[in-house]
Amino acid sequence: MPTVSLDDLRSAIAAATTAAELDDLEQQLFSRKHGLLTLAMKELQEATPEEKAKKGRELNETKQSFTKLLADKRGALQRASLGSLAETEKLDVTLELPAKERGHLHLIPEFIRSVEELFGRMGFEVAEGPEVETEENNFNQLNIPAAHPARDMQDTFWLEQDGLPPGGPYVMRTQTSPVQIRYMQTHKPPLRIIAPGKVYRKDADATHSPMFHQFEGLMIGEDVSLANMKAVMITAIRELISPKAEFRFRTGFFPFVEPGLEVDMRWQGDDKESREGKWLEIVGCGMVHPNVLKNVGIDPKKFRGFAFGFGVERMIMIKHQIPDLRSFFVGDLRFLKQF
Ligand code: PHE
Repeated sequence: MPTVSLDDLRSAIAAATTAAELDDLEQQLFSRKHGLLTLAMKELQEATPEEKAKKGRELNETKQSFTKLLADKRGALQRASLGSLAETEKLDVTLELPAKERGHLHLIPEFIRSVEELFGRMGFEVAEGPEVETEENNFNQLNIPAAHPARDMQDTFWLEQDGLPPGGPYVMRTQTSPVQIRYMQTHKPPLRIIAPGKVYRKDADATHSPMFHQFEGLMIGEDVSLANMKAVMITAIRELISPKAEFRFRTGFFPFVEPGLEVDMRWQGDDKESREGKWLEIVGCGMVHPNVLKNVGIDPKKFRGFAFGFGVERMIMIKHQIPDLRSFFVGDLRFLKQF
């Protein structure tokens, strides 16, 4: 084996290109058994005291110079590799990324949220009921018995009894009003609820769809008046549609209220057909009929109150000038992205 000198090792360190090479050179110098410098240290033990002092100092200096040489070279190699990393993995953080498309709530749930928020501020609690409802809750308890002509106002989807629990006949609820019944059966007045949800009727044209949304309101107390009802509804219309909304109250008939009213709103879209003389009905309302209160065990001599049922799609149509209610349900992104 050719003997390696310290000078050889010094130039090998200078020429090294990897950390592994440096590790190997370090071993050749400092390894406990065969390291050149370790051996030189051992030899020194046999020297005379004067030589020991002199050579020892020299040897220490040599050791220190190699330690520094190795450390410097290690640092240089590392910096070189970081430098090339900056070249090969270049990342321009000023580049603009293509915009990500973000979805948003559909107009209808978004509107319903704002309804819940607004009525929440007026002290109304959110209540819910099932979409498959009993004839009893959807009609009878609301003072609409089987032979009553008022049933003709609501073309109803009747369900087959097969597979449904006893208690039918069942219908797809035609209105959110049965939630009034369910809530009053289980809660004592005074009470204030808002009940948004889907309802179903057998019609379809530009202002009717077989499934649409309503939100029901109900407030019962000892001294709740028609004036209170108007105040609440006017607040709702102005906040939910526009402070400048044009509307009119007129009498209307619903068997579960007395007196009964309807609210129409001015239709401002470009008006091809007359659309009921530019007015669109958006809500039925009135003072809860004493028979309804009796049906749920509330004393009509002690308590009274009002109820209303707004049509959600129609309110949004007026708010955004949407001419055809069916646009809400076809899932056309060109329509949905406008809002
Ligand atoms: N439920 C009625 C409808 O859908 C609206 C209404 C609700 C009327 C509450 C009066 C009181 O036509």
